[in-house]
Amino acid sequence: MTTLSRADSLRAVSHPVYSDRKLRLGTFSTNVSGGCTMTTIDGVLTADWDSTRTLGLLADEMDFEAIVPVGRWRGFGGQTDFNGSGFESFTWAAGIGAVTSRSGVFATSHVPTIHPVMAAKQAATIDHITSGRFALNVVTGWNTPEIEMFGAPLLDHDLRYEVAVEWLDIIKRLWTEDEPFSLEGRFFTVKDASLSPHPVQRPHPVVMNAGGSPAGMHFGAKHCDVTFITPGGITEPAAMAEKVAHFKRLAREEYGRELLVWTIAYIVQGETEKAANDYYDLYVNQKGDWEAVSNLVATLGMNSGSHPPETIEATKRHFVAGWGGYPLIGTKEMVVDQLAALAGTGLDGVLLSWPRYIQDMQTFQKETHPLLVEAGLR
Ligand SMILES: Cc1cc2nc3c(=O)[nH]c(=O)nc-3n(C[C@H](O)[C@H](O)[C@H](O)COP(=O)(O)O)c2cc1C
Repeated sequence: MTTLSRADSLRAVSHPVYSDRKLRLGTFSTNVSGGCTMTTIDGVLTADWDSTRTLGLLADEMDFEAIVPVGRWRGFGGQTDFNGSGFESFTWAAGIGAVTSRSGVFATSHVPTIHPVMAAKQAATIDHITSGRFALNVVTGWNTPEIEMFGAPLLDHDLRYEVAVEWLDIIKRLWTEDEPFSLEGRFFTVKDASLSPHPVQRPHPVVMNAGGSPAGMHFGAKHCDVTFITPGGITEPAAMAEKVAHFKRLAREEYGRELLVWTIAYIVQGETEKAANDYYDLYVNQKGDWEAVSNLVATLGMNSGSHPPETIEATKRHFVAGWGGYPLIGTKEMVVDQLAALAGTGLDGVLLSWPRYIQDMQTFQKETHPLLVEAGLR
């Protein structure tokens, strides 16, 4: 079956990421403290069920196509211990899936932390809870201290993706095959494995990956349905369009597949452009958690030996402001214009976050989303 026809069959059960909207939207990282913002200002997301549920319901009310949690096992220290508190993403997705009725609900799975038979079963369960709105984000892990919590070493970078291929292959077989199968792979052994009931989505739930390295991009292009561009300092639609086209071409030319390509962005909205810039200045320049972000970039392996100081500073600023996302800063009209420009780059969707996640997303629902609808983007 080609990917195109696969996409059609997924559409038949209406997974939200295949909606026909010009601009598909989602939220990122609503299951952990801090969300996407490393700052000490008041009103930042805390990891409690009421807050994460409220954000899930806001997304659902606006018909967002994706609610994507982060798979995180420990924080990054600093004053805020950014992401140090949070909910495990499969059990979280089961709960969020039960209280929502329209949005796609994702679970983010670190390959080295869970056996594929378990991941396949949990995913199928959530696909039933949500009547076919589940999607699986496959991450191979890069944060050494959290993978070491499992007593597992972090493997060499590209080898992690070879493990992921075998892991995902077992999961897809369980989701789709009727007969039990056994396998002695390079990394996993399964004996007489089977799964019932199969997921609701046919042939199987949507699979996402956000790898940005060559190995990660090839994994996404060959094995996944939704992939991501990490902006990495891109702030112009033209540069984004180039990256999107490159990724789609890779999938088409090397694997004969049509991919959905999304990105992440953060919104800093104000009554006036100056108010938005002042808000940014407050939560990033004045109140950013620079110790936590220094720990993060060190974990990423960025140091003065490997990168020029300006690059490290710029990277830190993007992470503090919105987990390295694409900046959408200004009045509501400016935010709408910038989102329209992103929709014009060939992107299939954008995961959003806000500094004061709940309060700012409520403002977006009241003031900004209606303008997106008016503009024909949603
Ligand atoms: C939208 C998005 C979601 C991601 N979610 C997670 C996550 O939950 N946990 C994690 O450890 N890494 C996460 N990542 C990191 C990626 O899976 C990937 O490891 C990273 O972009 C580096 O690419 P590479 O693995 O190809 O080197 C995410 C990245 C993006 C852009």
